[in-house]
Amino acid sequence: MKNIQSYIKEHKDRFVNELIELLRTPSISADSAYEKDVLKTAESIKTSLKQAGCDRVEICPTEGHPIVYGEKTIDKNLPTVLVYGHYDVQPPDPLNLWNSPPFEPVIKNTELHPEGAIFARGACDDKGQMYMHVKAMEFMTQTNQLPCNVKFMIEGEEEVGSANLGAFIKNNKEKLKNDVILISDTGMITKKVPSITTGLRGLSYVEVEVTGPNRDLHSGLYGGAVANPINVLTKMIASLHDENNHITIPEFYDKVEELSLEERAEMAKAPFSLEHYKKSLDIDAVYGESGYTTNERNSIRPTLDVNGIWGGYTGEGAKTVIASKAYAKISMRLVPNQNWEEITQLFTTHFESIAPKGVKVKVTPHHGGQGYVTPIDSVGYQAASKAYEDTFGKTPIPQRSGGSIPIVSLFEQELKSKTILMGFGLDSDAIHSPNEHFGIWNYLKGIETIPYFYKYFTELSK
Ligand code: BES
Ligand code: MN
Ligand code: MN
Repeated sequence: MKNIQSYIKEHKDRFVNELIELLRTPSISADSAYEKDVLKTAESIKTSLKQAGCDRVEICPTEGHPIVYGEKTIDKNLPTVLVYGHYDVQPPDPLNLWNSPPFEPVIKNTELHPEGAIFARGACDDKGQMYMHVKAMEFMTQTNQLPCNVKFMIEGEEEVGSANLGAFIKNNKEKLKNDVILISDTGMITKKVPSITTGLRGLSYVEVEVTGPNRDLHSGLYGGAVANPINVLTKMIASLHDENNHITIPEFYDKVEELSLEERAEMAKAPFSLEHYKKSLDIDAVYGESGYTTNERNSIRPTLDVNGIWGGYTGEGAKTVIASKAYAKISMRLVPNQNWEEITQLFTTHFESIAPKGVKVKVTPHHGGQGYVTPIDSVGYQAASKAYEDTFGKTPIPQRSGGSIPIVSLFEQELKSKTILMGFGLDSDAIHSPNEHFGIWNYLKGIETIPYFYKYFTELSK
């Protein structure tokens, strides 16, 4: 790619400032109070896509938050890359743990980011990573180096389960037709060890409610004589793992893809320091399913985790009470071949079956999605690999991630194309957590690498 480095050098302050502006708007998809901000963000991405050289840009309404679409067709006979990303962000709470307000971006230097990192909600997930593609597009169109056709589909509901994207895809197959899907919404191993994500876990997310007596009771007058929903719920939850940390739901593991010893040995070659891992989290030991390493536990194995649990009195001081209800939000991360709807059903049946007499249990499914694995011999993967070789000077390591982007398996099913996950974030970027940030080095490296993907994908597709 001619001039990519000089282009970045010349425009990097603007690239950073544009992202900072984008990060100022709290596009929190989960909270309806921010609907205007979500819309404003969609509008601003539409404008950016237009400025970056898209010929046709539009905001496509859905039953929820809109999808921003843009495209540039240079020649119908050339391949088409479809870029997917999301402009919505996670809620920033707990606010008191942020060192600077989540929607007032600041640049700070850290040990891992001596070149500076932008601290703000969405900096890495996914505004920063999505915007790398917009700037890479700008570079290619400004320097007449766009080698193929491009489509952008940037949604506003990823963080709440992409409920309306499925219908949009099914209704717009022709419009979204492509040869490969390109996403930057994952991470890489370290700045010196580039990697390409080859797998994502699926997800089943449920909420459970345990009801005991018809009202909150005096815990002295009634305590010991009626089922306490909080006691019961915690006991039920505790029983969902056995002493080896295997999940106890019958049939839960039936379809789990078992990796061969060779595949696991290959995985274990990726650089990883358990000491560093523990230190970075301030824990004295790791914890998980016996028989598997940390990297296996968080990528190729399914999990069940309580994300939140509440009920009874949690205010200041003490109140003696037996609550009428207790609740929990539970997520199960799934691996390829596990069907999320089936797992939701297995969970529901099991959870209802373990409820003791004296309580009623209600399970409400939230959202879910299938896992994904992609081979490394596809044209898309090879093009991505060559792109990293050019910009990092090293062959990237294929790595399965523990996170989920449920729409990716639907892309394959509906649009019949492979997704390439070129993530430039680091695990330490604190996505979904207080003080989320994105290294400026990572941001610019993404902008630099993406155009090479287009070049090699076009060349290798011939
Ligand atoms: N970008 C993340 C997923 C991710 C991050 C994958 C890092 C791999 C590495 C995405 O925005 C996300 O947070 N997904 C949710 C699922 C969604 C249904 C809410 C997740 O993984 O919890
Ligand atoms: Mn994301
Ligand atoms: Mn996310």
